[in-house]
Amino acid sequence: MAQAGTATARGRFGATLRRDPWWVEILPVVLLLGGFAVYATLRAFEGAYYEWGPYLSPFYSPLIDPQHHWWPFSPALLILAGPLGFRATCYYYRKAYYRAFFLDPPACAVGETRDRGYRGETAFPFVLQNLHRYFLYLAVFFLAFLWYDAVRSFSYQGHFRVGVGSLVLLVNTVLLTLSLFACHPLRHLAGGKLDRLSCVSFGRARLAGWKALSALNERHMLFAWVSLVSVGLADFYVRQVACGHIRDLTLL
Ligand code: FES
Repeated sequence: MAQAGTATARGRFGATLRRDPWWVEILPVVLLLGGFAVYATLRAFEGAYYEWGPYLSPFYSPLIDPQHHWWPFSPALLILAGPLGFRATCYYYRKAYYRAFFLDPPACAVGETRDRGYRGETAFPFVLQNLHRYFLYLAVFFLAFLWYDAVRSFSYQGHFRVGVGSLVLLVNTVLLTLSLFACHPLRHLAGGKLDRLSCVSFGRARLAGWKALSALNERHMLFAWVSLVSVGLADFYVRQVACGHIRDLTLL
């Protein structure tokens, strides 16, 4: 941080001694994350075109009260908090949207909007970001349903069938799984919190698990983006088929 201190002209927003186009980094985040937020919100409130044959949109899984017996609104609104909370509190996304949307700071060694009274994530509301590990447990629960949906998508009217949609849902679920396994708290749980893995039960297994999760964790940013795009595309595909805009091709 000593370097950042020398490269930043303190007290003036956007002031920096950096010569590279640092602002270029935040543009894709604004476009992709902002675009996804708008699309996902519209889809969650739409409450229609989320199912076709054996396909269920990941935005609506698990599907609760689709017949509106006790919940008059879109079923997606009942489950939105889980995946949204997991993404919103993710360590990587936090950095990305703090920079892109709050400009706080806009980039490393670039002057931010305030210099004093900064309490980071120790005060409300940002202290709630610490709930990420609990959203991780919730995400495991949601992922189990997505795997069920992906497997179910290969069965149509009692027969095995591979459609384009089956592959779309399967690939999306694999990418979401990789993204979840790349999560920082999961790596911490597996072994990162321990000083000596050789002194605990299942030390060898935990070491192997920690190593595997660490390898995924190194690509956390990549999986975060790829899975964000894939979940949006999977929902879009199901919607297009359910609307009748496209026909799902049978591959096998
Ligand atoms: Fe990004 Fe957990 S830290 S998903």
